[in-house]
Amino acid sequence: MSFSIDRYKEESRKLDISGVRWEDVRKYPLSKGDLFCLHYMMDIENHVSLYLSHLLVTRACMDPILTAFLACWNYEELWHGENLGRMLNEYGIEFDTQDRIAQIRAGLGVQNTISLFSTMAGSWMFKDFSAIYLTIGAINELATATGYGALSRKSQHPVLQDLLARITKDERRHFAFYYNSAKEWLVGNRAAQRIDRFMLNRVWVPVGKGVKNQEEVDALALYLFDDPEGEADLERIDEKIGKLPGLEGIRLMTKALEAARERVGRRPDWGWRLIENEEWAVRPTRYRPVAELTTRRSAREGFAALEPEGAMAADA
Ligand SMILES: [Fe+2]
Ligand SMILES: [Fe+2]
Repeated sequence: MSFSIDRYKEESRKLDISGVRWEDVRKYPLSKGDLFCLHYMMDIENHVSLYLSHLLVTRACMDPILTAFLACWNYEELWHGENLGRMLNEYGIEFDTQDRIAQIRAGLGVQNTISLFSTMAGSWMFKDFSAIYLTIGAINELATATGYGALSRKSQHPVLQDLLARITKDERRHFAFYYNSAKEWLVGNRAAQRIDRFMLNRVWVPVGKGVKNQEEVDALALYLFDDPEGEADLERIDEKIGKLPGLEGIRLMTKALEAARERVGRRPDWGWRLIENEEWAVRPTRYRPVAELTTRRSAREGFAALEPEGAMAADA
C-alpha cells in the first residue's frame, strides 16, 4: 500500500455519484439501526471542517505535504456528508442539512474551544505530536471504511451499498496517506513510538465521540460490530495498527467494543433504546441559539427575510 501526494492532489475530487439510483432508495427498507448509523455518520462527516480547525493550529501543519492532503481531504469529506444526507432525504426523512450542522455546532459549547487549545498546546509541547495525530488519523479512516462496510452488510440496501462503496474508496485513500505517514514518522524513532503508544492508550476515542455522547457511540458500535463478523472487523483494524513500529499488540477498537458490551451488560437497553426510540433528531442547543452563531438569522428569528443582494442572488 503506497501513497503519492502528487497523484492524490491530481486525482482528488468531489464524490462521483453519477448513476446512483436515487429513485430506487424508497423501494428497499432501512431498519432503525441503519437509520441511526446513517445519521451518526452524516453528522461526523459534516463535522470534518471543524476537526480541521483543530489540526491547522498544530505543529503537524508545518508540513506542506500534510496541509496539501488536508485541503483535498476536507473537500472530499464534505461530499460524503452531503450524500449521506441526501440518502436520508430521499428515503423520506426530512431535515435541512445546513440547519442540522449549525445546530450540532451550536451545541458543542466551551468543550470545543478547550479541546482546540489543548490540541494546539500539546502539539507544540511534544515534538513527536505528528506521530500521534497521524496514527489516530489512520485508525479513524480505517474505522470509518470498516463502519461503512458493516452498514452495507447490515442494511442489504442496494442503493446505500452503492453509495457507501464509492465513499469507502475515498476513505481507503485517506487511510493510506495517514498510515504511510505515521509509519514514516515512527520508523527508527523510539521516542515517537513510546509517546504514540502511551497517548493512544489514553487519549484515543472512537470516531465521533465528542460530537456524540458515549451512549450514541456505543449504540453504533453495538449495532454494527456486536456479532462475529463485526468483531473480526475490529480485530483486523487493531492488527493493522499493531503493525506500525512500536505499536505491536495494541488494542483500541476491540477494547472499545468490550467497554460498550460491559455498559450494555449493566443496563440491557443501553444504546438500543436510542435506536428503538429513533433518537436521531438533534436536540435544541444547550448553550446558545443557532442564530447567534450563524449569519442566517432572519427566518429563524421571525424577522422579514433579507433581500438577497449581489451576483449570487442574481443567479438564484
Ligand atoms: Fe468520509
Ligand atoms: Fe476519510
